[in-house]
Amino acid sequence: MNIAFLNGTYLPLEEAKISPLDRGFLFGDGIYEVVPSYAGKMVGFGPHIERMNSGLDAIGISLDWSESDWADLCNQLIEKNGAGNLGIYLHVTRGADSKRFHGFPENITPTVFAFAFEIAPAPVADKTLAKKFKVSSSKDLRWDRCQIKSTALLGNVLHFQQGQEQGNDETLLFNADNQLTEASSCNAYIVKDGVVITPPLDNQLLPGITRQLLLDILRRDGVIPVEERIVTRDEVLNADEVWITSSSKEIGAVVEIDGVPVGNGEIGDIWLAAQKLYSAGKYNY
Ligand code: PDD
Repeated sequence: MNIAFLNGTYLPLEEAKISPLDRGFLFGDGIYEVVPSYAGKMVGFGPHIERMNSGLDAIGISLDWSESDWADLCNQLIEKNGAGNLGIYLHVTRGADSKRFHGFPENITPTVFAFAFEIAPAPVADKTLAKKFKVSSSKDLRWDRCQIKSTALLGNVLHFQQGQEQGNDETLLFNADNQLTEASSCNAYIVKDGVVITPPLDNQLLPGITRQLLLDILRRDGVIPVEERIVTRDEVLNADEVWITSSSKEIGAVVEIDGVPVGNGEIGDIWLAAQKLYSAGKYNY
């Protein structure tokens, strides 16, 4: 049985109910997180909570939960749900009002919802076992505050679906100046001449925790150079390797964009080295 958490109570997921006047339901007025956990060990718990708190601040939701309150919740969900390969989903909305009104209501209590879902086993650094991702590309049609991990994900959902309908796993997004932003649910990277390059953090992309950990792990190791700078569409199309990262995927090697092979169409050596380092270092955060 899947045990969830809703506003202070642990209960079977299918029994968790919210008001239709919850602003998360009406407006997508909330912030969420997904924390990966393997055999009871979370990856990047501290950075995930930090990002959630800055998202809550950014949209003016105040919730007096400490990091250890969140740790207790996550650990309870892990234990109650079998401590396997789990994504811990955390979701805070502004709460339920008594009417539908765009402005922030005063004196409503935020809704806190969390549950655990099964994810694939942690990826291993092995070219023969790793999934080869195929992606579409599109102009990024989302909003100008993509740094906020908002539950209002319709723009992302439509871009993800666009990829699915073209038989692909994801969609790479480019701004009006043909610069790479990210993918619909992942951060994005190219590798050129042995250098890992990813767009800098700004309002056009989510500050991914996998991205944060990966860049830190690579820089500490010091062998593979890393650059955070603007990446053009031409650079993506001429890259030796293209990667996408997210909490449940870790580093995904992209072998095809809009049906055209990336590099030689195979998973690259820099991916292999980076995934090895990530697998070894990810629990240190
Ligand atoms: N997606 N960019 C976007 C738009 C995302 O939605 C995500 C994560 C990422 C990667 O962030 P992280 O490394 O912190 O997982 C980048 C999550 C997993 C989701 O929506 O399910």
